[in-house]
Amino acid sequence: MKRETLLLGTSDTELLKAASALRCGEVVGIPTETVYGLAADATNEEAVRKVFAAKGRPADNPLIVHLADFSLAEKYTSYIPPLAKKLAESFCPGPLTMVMPKNDRIPSVTSGGLDTVGIRVPSHPVMHRLLEISGLAIAAPSANRSGYPSPTAARHVMDDMNGKIFGVIDGGPCEFGVESTVISFDGESSVRILRPGCVTRNMLLDFCDDVIIDKAILSEVAAGEKVASPGMKYKHYSPRANVILVEGSIEAMKKYLSRPLPFQSYALLYEAQEDFPCPYLTYGSNSFDQARLVFQRLRELDDIRAGTVYVQAPSKQGVGLAVYNRLIRAAGFEVIRI
Ligand code: TXA
Ligand code: MG
Repeated sequence: MKRETLLLGTSDTELLKAASALRCGEVVGIPTETVYGLAADATNEEAVRKVFAAKGRPADNPLIVHLADFSLAEKYTSYIPPLAKKLAESFCPGPLTMVMPKNDRIPSVTSGGLDTVGIRVPSHPVMHRLLEISGLAIAAPSANRSGYPSPTAARHVMDDMNGKIFGVIDGGPCEFGVESTVISFDGESSVRILRPGCVTRNMLLDFCDDVIIDKAILSEVAAGEKVASPGMKYKHYSPRANVILVEGSIEAMKKYLSRPLPFQSYALLYEAQEDFPCPYLTYGSNSFDQARLVFQRLRELDDIRAGTVYVQAPSKQGVGLAVYNRLIRAAGFEVIRI
């Protein structure tokens, strides 16, 4: 019989329940400042396998390991670059994941077979408290079914995971709305952004000589091509609707969409428009609002059974790059330039 997933609150009593489930090898949905995650004890192979199974995630896509404090990274890595320590002083806790060589405490299931591990210290107070109470290193990918938009509210996790996991902690809506910035280290003083997030290239440049943006962030990975971050090669963040990214002015977009459109066409725009030729939702006029709302809107468009969604392409500057990266993947790289 399918067991109902518990909806848990954020009191210490509820967090103790979640912590003991994690210690027993169960999987729990958890709030973070970026998106909701699917948590398991990072050192327990069986528990980590349950996370892969619940998501339907390919086994070669590694999980990020979350710690209560950056000082604990020593316990799970074989080497910490001095630059990582410097970055941790400014960005931990926060939405930054640093890829470093792992040690034997991190099983190969967790690292997707790689000899590295992505370490992150989340700033969300509830997640932080859970890390403290449980004393665990928590492996957690985003809590969506593999390929679908990431969850930014407990309800989204329930929609995707009800009956598949022990419980979900409801910590309210996520502050940032897109996943953490993932970086690796290129020599002593430069880093490579493997996935853009709310810690931007400019923020990192204050501490590094160079910050390289991996080419897989804005372009499609060819079949069989080797990538620095396995997550880059998979279809991602896509709702059931067919998403098309539109680059051009709002006037050009109005004109372009004033034609017979596919069944159940919608647009996703920065701001409300008068006389727009098809129904639309808005996702915020600045990059922070767009980041916070983008996944929620993609889910809402599925709820209203959108067939095709024309998305006004965001800026690629600052946090905008993170939003653009998620949308171009949701669109399967289908871009219309008008
Ligand atoms: O904000 C976040 O990072 C959220 C919350 C829950 O913390 N987690 C998250 O995890 O987004 P996930 O598994 O959905 O995405 C992790 C990404 C994947 O693209 C994965 O390939 C990459 O990070 N990654 C993880 N470990 C890596 C490693 N050792 N080397 C290269 N890429 C890695
Ligand atoms: Mg994910």
